[in-house]
Amino acid sequence: MIDEEPGIARTYDHFDISLAADPWPIFEALRSREPVAWSECHGGFWVVSRYEDLLEAGSDWHRFSNAEHGASLPELPFPRLAPLEVDPPLHREYRRLMNDLFSPASVQAREPKIREIAQELMRPLSDMQRFDYSKMFATPFSQNVALGVLGFHDSDREELATWIAEIAINVGMDFEQIFEPGIKVLGRIGERMEEHRKEPRSDTLIGVLMGGEINGEPVGDQDVLTTTFMVLFGALDTTVSAISGAAWYLAQHPEARARLLAEPELYEFAVDEFVRWTSPSQGMGRTVMADTTLGGCPVRGGDRMLLLWASGNRDENEFPNPDDVVLDRHPNRHVGFGAGPHRCVGSHLARLMVRVAIEELLAFGDFRLAADSEPVWVTGLTRGIRSLYFEH
Ligand code: HEM
Repeated sequence: MIDEEPGIARTYDHFDISLAADPWPIFEALRSREPVAWSECHGGFWVVSRYEDLLEAGSDWHRFSNAEHGASLPELPFPRLAPLEVDPPLHREYRRLMNDLFSPASVQAREPKIREIAQELMRPLSDMQRFDYSKMFATPFSQNVALGVLGFHDSDREELATWIAEIAINVGMDFEQIFEPGIKVLGRIGERMEEHRKEPRSDTLIGVLMGGEINGEPVGDQDVLTTTFMVLFGALDTTVSAISGAAWYLAQHPEARARLLAEPELYEFAVDEFVRWTSPSQGMGRTVMADTTLGGCPVRGGDRMLLLWASGNRDENEFPNPDDVVLDRHPNRHVGFGAGPHRCVGSHLARLMVRVAIEELLAFGDFRLAADSEPVWVTGLTRGIRSLYFEH
């Protein structure tokens, strides 16, 4: 069907639910026939699908800006959200502020707590013959870990998750529906800021921002609000998709489970391979700053662009057998965490979370996909599984 259709990109929409489970044939067709091509959806944007073009556009913030119209596509009716939606040099100030909190050493120190959260969530599942791994484990696990690092309470989880899901669902469709949950999220961040004001902390994002400086000035309350809002978005959905996607694969591949159990040193490579293969951040927006070319295609200043990280991660020119999970794939220069200055600040935390989640799943014993049940997928800027039944 794809072969007969001229101009595949023209109608490409990353929110198209019919592409959620299997976008890979479209991405393959885009890479081979229209690597930089125009979609008429959401007001029009360039779809960038080849690995080398993604590296070029992701790294060159002078030509391809995150600040001009933000990194969402379509653009969100919110103030610019740092660090994702500011360009260098200001962007470097935010990253400097956040680096320690998300460094490999700080993340490593959180491992016992992260494992405790995982074990607590896995324990009740052993008494159930059939359970939704994505809803009962991957989702609450990702939320509890990330919310703790940001400075929220466990009791904030359900409400924040509901509001954020409402926003995520409506980003591509209905802006009116975004305001109310948006205000609620900001209100909750404000409450936690008040607590941090009474008791300053340096081990949470809210605490680090409130005690920090940008360009020599204390970070303003408005900035703490919007930056925390941004990181909430970056952290929650992506990790749920990576963990659910890895578990979906492992449920269907007992030989991979056996290999990871026998050779735990493989985790060093396997975790990144799962991030590449699942590619939870499907694509991110940019704005072309002045007339230029990308991949030989002329693009105009002011045009919007979607960097399809997920497609780059299956580019056969960079990854041999790109559709296979190769547990010890090396080298693996994937763009699952992006590329260039905005490369994911939470990548070390995300890797540890994926690793702990898989280790605890494999420690659980035998499991398989439940009969008569299909995974439920979502798609947009992020993509992945949100319901996944296992039986054991
Ligand atoms: C498997 C899980 C994750 C994936 C696949 C992922 C992916 C990404 C990608 C592709 C970007 C680059 C966006 C762009 O270039 O426009 C990004 C940025 C970002 N991510 Fe993640 N992420 C994950 C987990 C996390 C976590 C756990 C956190 C924090 C707790 C986080 C916080 C952020 C932030 C703050 C940015 C913006 C960085 C900047 O603009 O400098 N992410 N992430």
